Amino acid sequence: MFRTIFIALSESTMLRAVAERSRIGRRLSSRFVAGMTVQDALAATARTNAAGMTVSVDNLGENVTNVEEASHSAALYREMLDEIAKRKLQANVSLKLTHMGLDVEEAVSRRIVAGLVSHAGELDNFVRVDMEGSSHTQKTLDIVRELHGRHPGRVGAVIQSYLIRSEDDVRRLCAEGIRIRLCKGAYKEPAGIAFQAKEDVDASFVRLMKIMLRSGVYHGIATHDPAMIEATKAFARAENISPDSFEFQMLYGIRRDMQEGLVKDGWRMRVYIPFGTEWYPYLMRRLAERPANAIFILKNVFRR
Ligand code: FDA
Repeated sequence: MFRTIFIALSESTMLRAVAERSRIGRRLSSRFVAGMTVQDALAATARTNAAGMTVSVDNLGENVTNVEEASHSAALYREMLDEIAKRKLQANVSLKLTHMGLDVEEAVSRRIVAGLVSHAGELDNFVRVDMEGSSHTQKTLDIVRELHGRHPGRVGAVIQSYLIRSEDDVRRLCAEGIRIRLCKGAYKEPAGIAFQAKEDVDASFVRLMKIMLRSGVYHGIATHDPAMIEATKAFARAENISPDSFEFQMLYGIRRDMQEGLVKDGWRMRVYIPFGTEWYPYLMRRLAERPANAIFILKNVFRR
């Protein structure tokens, strides 16, 4: 029930406008968001690198309503890629196609993202295209494929294990040599297209993880679920898959103990670091995953 409430809240434009402008809102978000500016994100990236973990930086935002907003966000990503190179940070970037204007003007948005992937290539870096709700799945994968054709190895996709179609998608992406981030999926999807029970989503996750790890392509296993992590480690050991040939990924501020533990045990860990003023839908999705976080965050704010 809480999951449904927080997902509904994540879509409220009115609450979002109020929350993102308020000081208390910014304080609430700081548990899961590295700050409001590029400099904040770079500082968090340097700290994370120093702890032996790589990073993917995400400029928060989705569903822009005009091309100017999309261009503004793309400029921030360019600046971020340049700064990563200049400071020799171990980081790539993650972006959402609707943040780059996909729903406003598809052709412009494709051009913007192609420009970013090409720029990342010039800097020997990589762009991960996050996956959004199911109405965007096919288009997102088509765009990633097209970009991979033009800039091989410079762009990757995300697959959600709750979607029933994902096994076909994983097999196809692996055959094409496209890097995948596997996650469970953060949106509310109907029963016709998505597994609803946790056991089914988890079983699908393990099935897809195995196909990915066997493929020889460098993939990311993105989860905080100890059972999924154990299954991945056990499979890698049993199949003699080198710990250098894939990475675990987790979100900034979530299960830092597990992030550090994996690094200590010799596994690769990438932390997804979000920054920016448009943090509201991101925070609501994190609360949907674990409503207890709402109490935790509120306690921290009042303690401070
Ligand atoms: P699950 O939700 O089953 O939780 C298992 C355990 O993990 C919990 O019992 C708890 O211990 C811990 N945990 C999980 N979430 C927590 C939280 N918010 N706070 C504290 N503890 C928590 N989704 C998507 O649709 N598109 C995308 O592009 C991405 N990208 C992405 C990148 C990265 C690096 C990660 C880690 C995740 C995503 N996701 C995503 C989100 C993903 O789909 C999923 O919603 C969350 O990771 C939660 O699922 P878990 O696998 O962590 O397990």
